[in-house]
Amino acid sequence: MKKVVIVLLIGIFVFSSILLAKNEEILIGLSMCELQLERWQKDRDIFVDTAEKLGAKVIVQSSNNDDLLQISQVENMINQGVDVLVIIAHDGNIMGSIVKEAHANGVPVIAYDRLLMNSDLDYFITFDPIKIGEYQAQYLVNKKPTGNYFLLGGSPTDNNAHLVRQGQMNILQPYIDRGDIKIVGDQWAKNWSAQEAMNIIENALTATKNQIDVIVASNDSTAGGAIEALKEQGLAGKVLVSGQDADLVACRRIVEGTQTMTVYKPIKSIATQAAIMAVSVVKDIHVVTNGTANNGVKEVPTFYLEPIPVDMNNIVETVIRDGFHSLEDVYKNIPKSQWPKVE
Ligand code: BGC
Repeated sequence: MKKVVIVLLIGIFVFSSILLAKNEEILIGLSMCELQLERWQKDRDIFVDTAEKLGAKVIVQSSNNDDLLQISQVENMINQGVDVLVIIAHDGNIMGSIVKEAHANGVPVIAYDRLLMNSDLDYFITFDPIKIGEYQAQYLVNKKPTGNYFLLGGSPTDNNAHLVRQGQMNILQPYIDRGDIKIVGDQWAKNWSAQEAMNIIENALTATKNQIDVIVASNDSTAGGAIEALKEQGLAGKVLVSGQDADLVACRRIVEGTQTMTVYKPIKSIATQAAIMAVSVVKDIHVVTNGTANNGVKEVPTFYLEPIPVDMNNIVETVIRDGFHSLEDVYKNIPKSQWPKVE
């Protein structure tokens, strides 16, 4: 709690310093992997809103998960004279190459949520993906310390998917070594696609004759696909399924009992801090970081934010209390008589 208050105070201090600093309009290039997922739309809206309040203008482009398009969009932003780039990479390895080009043009680069690999990246801001994986697996083993587990990874081209998996394995490995947990399958869903996840789980259920107790899904879109496949076999709500993002549909599934948990990442915090970071870099104001991340060639100064595991029992005091989603939206499919009381 103390840590949160300190970070908040630093944030307010930096925010006011920015407003007091000399006011020349700053141009920020925000390059996004895609804009279909609910979370990325929130990220964009809050980032742009905060940056504008700080007197900056933002050019936003989404590459629809196309690496070549993302590279050319960023090159375009550099040509348009952006003062700083904020990049959510589709592929952190491929996009890493853009940092050199940006620096050659005097443009600093901030990686947002997904690290840019093997590059002289200036800053990184993220929720710790290893911790997210640990929260998912810890929750699942607490509920089911023995049984058949299926590992459903995210996009193989997203560094986060691998770090989330690393976190999951930190918790699962001792159970596997003891023979308590058996891994009955391990697959990765391209672009974190729900459709791909559904196909994977349909096949896995056929191959195992429905003998799956737990699906370690790495985010809410893949969890959604997995749950669709479970529904076809009448297994939704019987098999435990994790997630990440606290997307509205996932929160609904949690209160309906088909998804076991998610990991909530308050998007307001990351998007606000990232906008502050971008403006601070340009105005040469102290950039707040609280750690580093190794991207293969350097320890990148990083601002880590705290993710929060969420299930049916704490959804009201987290996601709903924060205004991330309303009680009405989350409980839409539940009879009103069963809604929790909220003071
Ligand atoms: C993000 C997740 C998101 C996933 C799919 C990851 O890099 O950290 O929040 O669900 O990408 O877009």
